[in-house]
Amino acid sequence: MAERSPATSRAERRLTLLSLAVVRIRDVVDAGLLEPWTACLCDEEHRVRARGLDAPTTARALVSRGLLRRALSRVAPLDPAAWRFEIGEHGRPWAPRPAPSFNVAHSGDTVACVTGAPAELGLDVEETTRALDLDAVARVSFSEGELRGLGSRSGAARRARFFALWTLKEAYLKARGAGLVLPLDGFTMSDVDTASPSITFAPGFGDVPEGWRFARPELGPHLAAAVAARDAEALRVQVEHVDVAGWLA
Ligand SMILES: CC(C)(COP(=O)(O)OP(=O)(O)OC[C@H]1O[C@@H](n2cnc3c(N)ncnc32)[C@H](O)[C@@H]1OP(=O)(O)O)[C@@H](O)C(=O)NCCC(=O)NCCS
Repeated sequence: MAERSPATSRAERRLTLLSLAVVRIRDVVDAGLLEPWTACLCDEEHRVRARGLDAPTTARALVSRGLLRRALSRVAPLDPAAWRFEIGEHGRPWAPRPAPSFNVAHSGDTVACVTGAPAELGLDVEETTRALDLDAVARVSFSEGELRGLGSRSGAARRARFFALWTLKEAYLKARGAGLVLPLDGFTMSDVDTASPSITFAPGFGDVPEGWRFARPELGPHLAAAVAARDAEALRVQVEHVDVAGWLA
């Protein structure tokens, strides 16, 4: 076998490969696969059925946990039913080793789960057709720099930029695990339309841009998604639209 040049091997070491598994809830429910898909859930997770939630919310919670358990078992040697989750201070689920870092997101009919190496991972997915007062949300959520970028656009381009910024910001918040404890206007996403979006922080925010990497994987029409990872070098996100029956086999 030919030896790799030092430059190549250095570049390979720097590439962080993340897996992003995506499921449409109706693919599970309509195929009558909800029972087998959720057979790996623990008693506590099954109890969502008794909480009096509407059917779509219940199905989303069940499918989401089934996806997380199965996605973890594809990258770590443990049965899907064997994972035990803990909940962090601000609601972030985590699992002890051998679990890799992970984060889950849902929007409408879509649930997604990212798994991979860096210690802090965040994922957000949003249906871009949802009814939302974009300007009102932007005013309370975006920094001045982000608002300037939004202000120069109109129509579909404005909506696309809004959801690009929204998902990037939320992916960062979720990677930090702190939710809305952190001020949304205290950090600014830039280079949003490039392969490597970047982040800057207002003075006193308490974080530094070095080490943060972002990606905006393509999930399909009417969906926006973003991944944030700390301690990564170049980031590559491999998207898999899950064949639900195939993953059960
Ligand atoms: C949980 C939170 C981080 C995201 O909420 P959300 O948008 O409703 O939910 P998402 O679909 O993106 O993610 C939910 C999943 O994130 C995970 N999660 C929960 N709390 C989390 C936290 N503090 N950090 C990271 N992940 C968290 C859970 O796995 C959850 O799924 P589950 O309940 O099925 O296990 C919420 O607390 C929050 O802070 N939202 C901010 C919303 C906002 O204003 N964003 C503006 C961006 S401009």
